[in-house]
Amino acid sequence: MIDGALPTIPGFTMQSVLGKGGQGRVYEALYKDMPVAIKLYDTDTEIGVKRVLLEVDAIRSLGSDCFPGIFCYGIDTVEGRECIWVAFEFIEGCTLKDLLSTRCLSDDAARSMMIAVSNAVSDLWSIRKRHRDIKPGNIMQKPDGTFILIDLGYAKHLDAEKLTETGWCLGTPGYIAPEEFSRRANATVKADVFSLGITSYECIYGVHPFQRKQRRVIDGRCLPVEPVKGISEELRRTIAEMLSHDPLDRPMPHEITGRLGGGR
Ligand SMILES: Nc1ncnc2c1ncn2[C@@H]1O[C@H](COP(=O)(O)OP(=O)(O)OP(=O)(O)O)[C@@H](O)[C@H]1O
Ligand SMILES: [Mg+2]
Repeated sequence: MIDGALPTIPGFTMQSVLGKGGQGRVYEALYKDMPVAIKLYDTDTEIGVKRVLLEVDAIRSLGSDCFPGIFCYGIDTVEGRECIWVAFEFIEGCTLKDLLSTRCLSDDAARSMMIAVSNAVSDLWSIRKRHRDIKPGNIMQKPDGTFILIDLGYAKHLDAEKLTETGWCLGTPGYIAPEEFSRRANATVKADVFSLGITSYECIYGVHPFQRKQRRVIDGRCLPVEPVKGISEELRRTIAEMLSHDPLDRPMPHEITGRLGGGR
């Protein structure tokens, strides 16, 4: 596709590019006069396609309001290439990454973000799925101040062969839990809790606790979690525990929400 040109998918009026990342391209579009965010994934393998569609269906059936609703999805040939597309509820607002480029979050805002993402992770884990790429760029703040987790890892199946070849694992370097990096098969929801711990640390301190280096994550060389003016001891301690090297020492998502006053 020519950069800047918008693809054509029957039923959608494409409006603008929202993002282009490692796993897909995201566009703002109109679907039956409703604004949607439509994400396109290039496909390579048949098995990958089936798995992605099953996963999208499983997550849609969850009906969780902790991530954008899925209107519809399908497969089409777009600019000569077969693509899976998924049309999501359009979220007004900006990413946490954009927000953090100007300021840190208050105690209240950080709690609200941690509760929203913990609930999302908990809903996913109820069907034994993990997000696998929690980071500020994959969390959005709505105009009413609430937060929502985006960019669920549907495309991981498309990368399965590439991953096996390289021995690499999914996620963003600097945010991948140590156990996931070394033994992907055994990682649990606690790996998502770890990535959320890093994201929460960045919200409070304005810096990355492992200086964005996966090597430091593996070696457990975390910057200290020190008192900060205006940030409660409880929040500080919860973030410190989420960053524990051993997953067993990290809280479960429902424990995080319980401590931070957001139990459901
Ligand atoms: N449902 C949505 N509503 C509004 N904007 C969205 C929505 N989903 C994604 N976006 C915007 O598109 C950008 C990219 O989306 P997303 O994170 O899903 O893909 P990506 O980062 O390009 O992919 P990857 O992280 O796999 O490389 C987001 O940062 C956000 O600005
Ligand atoms: Mg993303």
